[in-house]
Amino acid sequence: MAKKTHSGNNTSNSAEPRVHQRGREIQAFNTVTHAFHLELEEPVRLEMTEKLNQLLADSMTLRDLYKKAHWQVIGPTFYQLHLLYDKHFGEQVEIVDTIAERIQLLGGLAIAMAHDVAETAQIERPPRGREEVPVVISRLLDAHQVIIRECREVADRADKLGDHGTNDMVVSDVLRTNELQAWFISEHLVETPLVHANVAAMNAAD
Ligand SMILES: [Fe+2]
Repeated sequence: MAKKTHSGNNTSNSAEPRVHQRGREIQAFNTVTHAFHLELEEPVRLEMTEKLNQLLADSMTLRDLYKKAHWQVIGPTFYQLHLLYDKHFGEQVEIVDTIAERIQLLGGLAIAMAHDVAETAQIERPPRGREEVPVVISRLLDAHQVIIRECREVADRADKLGDHGTNDMVVSDVLRTNELQAWFISEHLVETPLVHANVAAMNAAD
């Protein structure tokens, strides 16, 4: 008797994983579902999710910029910068998850993949190669500036539209953390003597 084989149409008794499946999208990007329980109208949730996706794409870019800096740093400040960059990377990971899940709870879809993020982000793209420490820090500060500006715009708009949850998240979690991180790294760009005090400047002031 011929051995029975499974056909594609009759797999109900099969213990085999059904691999290589594809299907249609069940929700398109830049749309929101009908989440009536939030008491936020659909146009409000649509506008908020679009703005939050921009903030998300830039936060993912800054997150990755910190990891690049963490890996590629060299020089006499290697140790402290290597650790500081990774601390900020970890905080940006949390920020990214917070923004993405806010988009989802508003009924939208969070941008996720690197190629989509690259197309959306406003932050200037760095080269693949290694750059000097002051250049890397300047790039990080510029990236923080983009995000801080976007935070204020989203928070203002959320406040006007009555989306206080988004306003609070953007100000408390994203804006404040970015302000603090920007301060920590900006202090590394101040030129101060490491060994000899600046006696010439002191004498000139007398
Ligand atoms: Fe590491």
